[in-house]
Amino acid sequence: DTLRDAFDQCFLVGTALNRWFIADEVPGLLDFVGDQFSAVTAENAMKWGRIHPEEGQYAVAIPDRLVSFAQANDMAVVGHTLVWHSQTPDWVFEGEGGQPASRELLLGRMKDHIDTVVGRYRGRVHGWDVVNEAILDDGSWRPSKWREQIGPDFVEQAFRFAHEADPKAELYYNDYNMTAPGKRDAVVAMVKDLQAKGVPISGIGMQGHFGIGRPSMEDFTAALDAYGSLGLKVMITELDVTVLPWPENLAVGADISSAAENREELDPYTDGLPEEVARAQADQYAALFRELVARKDFVSRVTFWGVSDADNWKNNFPVRGRTDHPMLFDRDLQPKPAFDAVMAEA
Ligand code: XIL
Repeated sequence: DTLRDAFDQCFLVGTALNRWFIADEVPGLLDFVGDQFSAVTAENAMKWGRIHPEEGQYAVAIPDRLVSFAQANDMAVVGHTLVWHSQTPDWVFEGEGGQPASRELLLGRMKDHIDTVVGRYRGRVHGWDVVNEAILDDGSWRPSKWREQIGPDFVEQAFRFAHEADPKAELYYNDYNMTAPGKRDAVVAMVKDLQAKGVPISGIGMQGHFGIGRPSMEDFTAALDAYGSLGLKVMITELDVTVLPWPENLAVGADISSAAENREELDPYTDGLPEEVARAQADQYAALFRELVARKDFVSRVTFWGVSDADNWKNNFPVRGRTDHPMLFDRDLQPKPAFDAVMAEA
């Protein structure tokens, strides 16, 4: 039994692949992925810093392989991501003499990038995360270089460029903490404004970096319904359910070995996931999928951010070197209680 078959009548079920997986350096992994999933996202390979590291130089070997793998396995490709404040090289924002690039220069670079990348995969990428993470949890705009140097219309410009480059591709706004009421209401207002201006937007991506009991089902369903009522497709685009606590007293990016006192508390499952935690995680996944299946009319995809516990980014975020267990498959690619719980909702 596979996820892609089980949810065939509901929505696509996707995964994110890192470069080792795409390059087929992990024996058997791609076969497993093709069996289980019906959509695929590059975890990093299509981000600006990877696919366009220097002005005019594009690195397409890994993205090309991802797209042909997907075609060969009848999977949808999700392009991630075109305009983001992170993993974008400094040169993009720089102008003459170390000055910030002007609005015209930065818009021109945005258009070139989108023309080239979206144009290359025209007809082969199902949809693009056009703009990623433009709004903060309290609903205010993130003060990014995109916004500072172009102005508030950078969002609509990105969508218009993407639509020109591939008129048939779906185009999404994607963000994290999309269940936070302040962010939710701001995203709804932004999308209504885009729709009123005739900007081509087709869906909303809720990243879905969740935890046990987080978000509450009340916040989750309120957000799904708020986005669904805009008449757009709604997707969970980067799903994982961490079992680890947020490390309050460590800086983002710190190594866990620098946590002198409470190291065991911050990294408690190095020897495996206790049954009761695996159960609680399974319950959270089941509750999420129950609400998603109930909304299959407008929920078009659920993508996991990785394949197994071994490769998910949460082992190294927000601090490095922990042993997390966020996914449906364990480190030996064996299904966990969470897998069975999800399948039972199909
Ligand atoms: C993460 C990747 O998983 C990591 O490998 C990388 O080091 C940093 O980015 N939101 C997003 C994703 O939109 O692109 C991020 O992916 C996770 C948060």
